[in-house]
Formats: sequence, structure tokens, C-alpha cells
Amino acid sequence: MKNTINQKKKLIIANWKMNPDSEKSAKELALSIKKSASRLSGVDVVICPPYVFIGSIFSKSKVKIGAQDISFEDKGSHTGEVSATQVASLGANFVIIGHSERRKKGEAEGDIAKKVLKAVATGLTPIVCVGEDVHDEEGKYLEIVRAQILSALILLKKTEVWKVVIAYEPVWAIGATRAMSSYDLHQMSLYIRKVLADEYGKIAVGIPVIYGGSVDATNAAEIVYQGEVDGLLVGRESLSGENFGALLRAVNNKI
Ligand code: PGA
Repeated sequence: MKNTINQKKKLIIANWKMNPDSEKSAKELALSIKKSASRLSGVDVVICPPYVFIGSIFSKSKVKIGAQDISFEDKGSHTGEVSATQVASLGANFVIIGHSERRKKGEAEGDIAKKVLKAVATGLTPIVCVGEDVHDEEGKYLEIVRAQILSALILLKKTEVWKVVIAYEPVWAIGATRAMSSYDLHQMSLYIRKVLADEYGKIAVGIPVIYGGSVDATNAAEIVYQGEVDGLLVGRESLSGENFGALLRAVNNKI
């Protein structure tokens, strides 16, 4: 079994969070990103807009669409929730699950595991976010990240774990002024791959491990190639077509 994600290309995900303010701006930004991506063969690009813009920015293009969350319920009386089926019906292929900003608002590990299961059952690729609050000197962060990964995947059949993407986002590096160093990230990417291999064996070999937290056009290529990750989850810098285009080119051209 193989991951459907192209292993040779780098997976670059735009997490727009609660931006931009209008459908018009969302369409313009998406168009600009699609134009940049269409010229690059070394990157796979996914835009994760707020739910309300998924339908209006989806088009048959190289750029794929994802949601920023889903409900673990199927349908019915769940005011304010959006189901995996609804998201998929608009053309989305991906969904971010367990972002630290949602965990901070009280999303529990058990709910994250249910959402991951629901995404896979619906044919959406879950981008499972994990990451420590503090990179402590005693190394407690290693066990924290391990526990988050295993807990998020616990409801999946072992034969299905290859369907996920792991996004390592150290919380202290999100929305910050500096990303994690590519040296430290390399340690973490090796560690995360070891956690996956120890738990699931060969089936986990192709699981993409990506990084998020203060990535921009100037550090993106170093983070990807020195940090040895399969891609990036980008917040702020994905809100400017120009900056995100430069970031995509930097990774594509390894500069
Ligand atoms: P940032 O956000 O790139 O603005 O640090 C990353 C994220 O939260 O996914």
C-alpha cells in the first residue's frame, strides 16, 4: 500500500485560519496561489480556507483544498458543526485535525482521534497536528509528541495509518518570530519517524512528516531540506499571494 501523496514532491499547506475577511479576497488570494503553483513541479499545494470559502475557491486545478476541522459526528443536531461528508462534497481532499489553536480551545485527544477516524472513513487525508508547548531541557517534549501521535491514530486500523499526514508544529514556534532550527527539526523528524516505525512497522514508512511554525520564504528551503521533512504547514505567510508564491518557489528550487 502506498500513500496517495506524491512522495517526491514537497507538500505545502496554506492554513488561512480565520482569514481573509471576504469571499472576494479569498478568491483573489486563491487565484494568486494557483498561478504560482501551476508553474512549479516540485511542490504539491493545499489551501485550507475557512469552511465558508471552500466552495468558492475550489476548482479543478493542481492546488487541492482542505478544511481546518471537521465534526466527528455524521449528521444531525450538532449546531455549528460541519461534517466530513459536507466538506468532501465541496471538493476538499484534506482536513487539518488537532491544530494547537483548537486544542487550546479545549479540543480533547479523544475527539481528535474520532475526527481522524472520520476523515479517513470519508476519504479525506487528515493532517494531524502535534507539538509540544515548551521545548524543555529534560526532553519531556519527546514523550509529549509521541503520546499525541499515538493517541490521534489510536482508532485507525493499523493497516490504515499510512493515510495520514503528521504535521509537527511546536506550539512555541507558531505565530512567533523564529522557526525551530533546522538542526533541532531534523532530530524531531527522525524521532517522529521512529515513533511511527516502532508502533506500526513498515506500513508507516511513507507517512509524510511536515513542519509548521513561523515558516517564510527565507527559511522554508532550509527547514525542508536540512530538517528533512516532507513539507510545510504555513500560517501567516500563506495570506499574501506574493510571499507564499516566493515560499513555494524557494522550496521548489531548493534555494
Ligand atoms: P504560522 O502558523 O506560520 O503563522 O506560525 C503556522 C500554523 O499555525 O499552522
